[in-house]
Amino acid sequence: MQISPSLLAADFAHLHREIEMINTSEADMLHLDVMDGVFVPNISFGFPVLNAVGRLSTKPMDVHLMIVEPQKFISQVRDCGAAIMNVHQEACTHLDRTIHEIKAAGMKAAVTLNPSTPVGMLEDIIAELDMVLLMSVNPGFGGQSFIQNTLAKVRRLKELISSSDSKALIEIDGGVNLTTGRMLAEAGADILVAGSFVFGSPTPHEAINSLKAL
Ligand code: DX5
Ligand code: ZN
Repeated sequence: MQISPSLLAADFAHLHREIEMINTSEADMLHLDVMDGVFVPNISFGFPVLNAVGRLSTKPMDVHLMIVEPQKFISQVRDCGAAIMNVHQEACTHLDRTIHEIKAAGMKAAVTLNPSTPVGMLEDIIAELDMVLLMSVNPGFGGQSFIQNTLAKVRRLKELISSSDSKALIEIDGGVNLTTGRMLAEAGADILVAGSFVFGSPTPHEAINSLKAL
């Protein structure tokens, strides 16, 4: 299993130390949650923080944009050093164009689905995607409980990917811990995002390793 710890749960008064902790861990990526207070009912951080993290992180940056009109910020996200840009299907009127622009900017393209958005919405774009991020909580906050229906969505997405000649990886975000992580591994997830489970642990490297071993 690949692991992408979510910086949202880090101690922002000691960001340098928290990023060093991830740099020296077995994490595969670093997940960064950008919120605008419009697409989701919360505000997190923006480009000044993303740029600073980009200078410190040795892990690929997995940027999750919970914002309206994410297509306006493709070059800015790339300039922060992002490896993967996640845009919400619900926020993109011209998703095909946006996905092609993300790839043309040199990043991997991922589409995120809210818990109530069916996997079938991706039928005509799945072949173009590097990754699909399924939200297993309603986006906007860390520390929420895992929505069980995500397991069935992972299985449906796996079917869609294999029937469409797509190479997309399946990433899950929200309420991930050892119990939900084990179920997600069985259902076919490739990458787990984990905020509270990693940064809230007294032994974050062990928390990452325990998820990786699933
Ligand atoms: C929620 C964010 C998540 C969040 C996950 O809107 O997209 O990435 O940080 O936090 P946990 O792992 O605590 O549910
Ligand atoms: Zn996220």
